[in-house]
Amino acid sequence: MLNAIEFRLMQAGDLDQVVALEQQAFSHPWSRKLYLDALTSYECWMMLVEGEHVGHGVISQVLDEAHLLNIAVAVEQQGRGLGLQLLEHLMQRATERGCVECFLELRASNQSAYRLYERFGFNEIGRRRDYYPTVGGHEDALVMVCTLFAD
Ligand SMILES: CC(C)(COP(=O)(O)OP(=O)(O)OC[C@H]1O[C@@H](n2cnc3c(N)ncnc32)[C@H](O)[C@@H]1OP(=O)(O)O)[C@@H](O)C(=O)NCCC(=O)NCCS
Repeated sequence: MLNAIEFRLMQAGDLDQVVALEQQAFSHPWSRKLYLDALTSYECWMMLVEGEHVGHGVISQVLDEAHLLNIAVAVEQQGRGLGLQLLEHLMQRATERGCVECFLELRASNQSAYRLYERFGFNEIGRRRDYYPTVGGHEDALVMVCTLFAD
């Protein structure tokens, strides 16, 4: 199954699928409007298994610094290693574009994402109080960073 993984850049025609996956995967998903903006401003990647969209991710770049803005795997496909493969692809792309480190923020309660990032090599470096909205209020963001090495 893992041999059939492909990555390609996201296009406007993908947004129905992307937004549907986001709505299943996140309590506070990105909107279509946000993705339309992201397509022109950032690098947005689709992950496909046997031609089917199973995940996507968004990275931004400022000089030699990357920022992982979003990553998601379809709920029914999670826990099979796809998240790690997607993260590896995004970080490989950042490295190819000359980035030497990558930052990200995540909800303090998002343990599966935290473990994924740690497994890849991210380290926690800070916390932003009440950064994210929740249904009942707010929760903290954790800030993580990873040094990127060219092969
Ligand atoms: C975070 C997210 C992208 C991870 O994707 P994923 O495909 O589930 O990630 P992986 O499969 O690589 O790893 C998840 C777990 O599956 C396990 N796993 C990986 N390959 C496996 C396999 N072949 N068999 C069994 N388990 C496996 C991993 O060990 C990991 O376990 P852990 O969480 O207990 O450490 C996904 O959960 C997601 O989309 N969440 C919702 C959106 C989100 O929160 N995004 C992050 C925003 S900061």
